[in-house]
Amino acid sequence: MSQFPIRRMRRLRRTAALRRLVQETHLVPAQLVWPLFACHGEGVRREVPTLPGVYQTSVDELVKDAERARRLGLGGIILFGLPQSKDATGSEAYDEQGIVQQAARAVKRATPDLLVVGDVCLCEYTDHGHCGVLQDGEVENDASVYLLGKVAVTQARAGVDLVAPSDMMDGRVAGIRKALDAAGFSRVPIMSYAAKMASAFYGPFREAAGSTPQFGDRQSYQMQGSNADEAMKEIELDVSEGADIILVKPALPCLDLIRRAKQQFGSPLAAYQVSGEYAMIKAAAERGMLDEQRAMWETLYAIRRAGADIVLSYFAPCAAEQL
Ligand code: PBG
Repeated sequence: MSQFPIRRMRRLRRTAALRRLVQETHLVPAQLVWPLFACHGEGVRREVPTLPGVYQTSVDELVKDAERARRLGLGGIILFGLPQSKDATGSEAYDEQGIVQQAARAVKRATPDLLVVGDVCLCEYTDHGHCGVLQDGEVENDASVYLLGKVAVTQARAGVDLVAPSDMMDGRVAGIRKALDAAGFSRVPIMSYAAKMASAFYGPFREAAGSTPQFGDRQSYQMQGSNADEAMKEIELDVSEGADIILVKPALPCLDLIRRAKQQFGSPLAAYQVSGEYAMIKAAAERGMLDEQRAMWETLYAIRRAGADIVLSYFAPCAAEQL
């Protein structure tokens, strides 16, 4: 029952103006969040070898990036930290003078209107590189949740607008909510990395953040990429514990989960186009294998089309500049 020649799909593709008119999915800078890495020191701007265009920056330099983010109208920045020194419990993560706390204060002073998200995790701060504390060689859930609550509270005190736990401990959204409320921060929302897969695509990030596990891997807390029903269960639990925004990660390998989560939960939904997704495009483009800009747009629109309202991406400033 072909309707041809009445129905010709190509009619609406003929010119750029027609294509623009019928474009279904849109992206605005306010939907993009830019991940930044804060380190100690002054005047530091070190490019991450595996992530061209991504830098470890001292607070003074990071403030410049924050000002750029504000000029571009980005949805916000998310802060990761490289501590002065690491220890068994990741204590700099919940130190009032920790690097993320310092960066948050400086950014809020310079650009009060820019949304600042704090990544709440221990892996960048522990000497063993796991996202929680260890007991008998295993990541101990409840003790880790207790510390994550302290991370969130110190970040809130430093002025972050939103905390984003990425550790995948059970019950951490409830624990963080309770800790924030008890400290007088009931106004601070939580964006939980609700469905976070144990992914190979975090490789470059671990170099950027110095957070590679010193033994074993993260499979006892991050999810298996093969499980979609379990991902929905994870999200449901986080929503019931009080997550205000839910996040799926990585993005491209999980487009189906983004779609399902949007349909099932209707909460504001974020997706993280992670370091490996970015590095893959950068590396292929460097070798002349594909067009970087087109690959960037295609992936960002795919993530939006799947159902993400918010996209965390290292491409954020580059995309926003062209929007
Ligand atoms: C840490 C954390 C990770 C990322 C964000 N927060 C890495 C990990 O779990 O090892 C990955 C982000 C990226 O790859 O860009 N809990």
